[in-house]
Amino acid sequence: MSSHIMPTYGRLPVTFARGDGAWLWDTDGKRYLDALSGIAVCSLGHAHPAVHRAICKQSETLLHTSNVYGIAVQETLASKLAELSGMDNVFFCNSGAEANEAAIKIARKYGHSLGIDVPRIIVMEKSFHGRTLATLSATGNPKVQQGFEPLVEGFIRVPYNDVAAIERALVDNDGVVAILVEPVQGEGGVNVPAADYLNRIRAICDQHNLLMMLDEIQTGVGRTGKFLAFQHNGILPDVVTLAKALGNGVPIGACLARGKAAEVLTAGNHGSTFGGNLLACSAALAVLETLEQENLIAKAEKQGRAIHAALSEGLSDVPGIVDIRHKGMMIGIELDRPCGELVSMALKQGLLINVTNEKTIRLLPPLIFDDAQIELLTATLSGLIKDYTAQDVTL
Ligand SMILES: Cc1ncc(COP(=O)(O)O)c(C=O)c1O
Repeated sequence: MSSHIMPTYGRLPVTFARGDGAWLWDTDGKRYLDALSGIAVCSLGHAHPAVHRAICKQSETLLHTSNVYGIAVQETLASKLAELSGMDNVFFCNSGAEANEAAIKIARKYGHSLGIDVPRIIVMEKSFHGRTLATLSATGNPKVQQGFEPLVEGFIRVPYNDVAAIERALVDNDGVVAILVEPVQGEGGVNVPAADYLNRIRAICDQHNLLMMLDEIQTGVGRTGKFLAFQHNGILPDVVTLAKALGNGVPIGACLARGKAAEVLTAGNHGSTFGGNLLACSAALAVLETLEQENLIAKAEKQGRAIHAALSEGLSDVPGIVDIRHKGMMIGIELDRPCGELVSMALKQGLLINVTNEKTIRLLPPLIFDDAQIELLTATLSGLIKDYTAQDVTL
């Protein structure tokens, strides 16, 4: 069958018709346990009644006006995000890449305000920041960049979780104005850095007058067991970007800033037609209220630990497991071999997982996952990994 959709995705042979909590049903009525949440988006689960109610109610009155007018629900959401994050203000957009574009523009303009003509941003190997030209240039994966040269200039790349490399880059390069980093690398393989990595980056930024910019697009909104992952470290960054789970499926992105970073962009510097419209902000407010009401952030911490423990036990005697990592409900199982095939094997068994960086199975279950779902996920997945690694060894 010829499709009229540009083939930018290698799609799995399944189409979903409806969802409820952590479950999805395909067009043939087969049920699947969703341990991916649309890649860290539907953290409250599918068809959550609070989000449903919020978007229905909003659509009865007004969906969109324009950012040239006041938008009360956007003000309310910005205040709530500021309260939850410790940041001062917010620019709203529609996706993660756009949120990072805003961060990159803040860093550059901040640099120019200091008299730096070619401002540079330190970014990490194996990072992922999006598919627009600036964000793919910031991304530390050559596959994302190939074919789209010339890349946007002004990024200096260092290995992740390597503070000494950042210090060397500061000696070797002029004009560094910011460091952009994910608190846990998602696409790069669920890479959890040393516990004090962000604290040490904060100290370097303070010492050199740099903006500390955290891409929390995948880690944010409760995923790691805190509202934002940097809250595990007791620090405050200067810029934080969010998207994904903020709308539980309604597209919304946000770039939060604090202190000097919050004063950089002024009228006419940046904008978005849809960014922060009434529909998206109503959905996001419902998400934030539900996270609190259902105590989902603490649940993410607890359930993430339970999944990690069950997998560690279930896979303890399986050869080929390099590492099992997690931070809250971001879980990565690294194998010693490529394992993309496991995604289709799991799909056949009614389980949705992901493989990233070729060798790492990535789980991003909705934060509402209950104990029975954890049992089903970890038992099914452990069985699949055992079969897969055994079959590979005998080949
Ligand atoms: C850490 C991180 N940053 C940025 C992005 C890009 O977000 P979007 O696809 O909404 O543009 C992603 C998406 O996977 C991400 O994981």
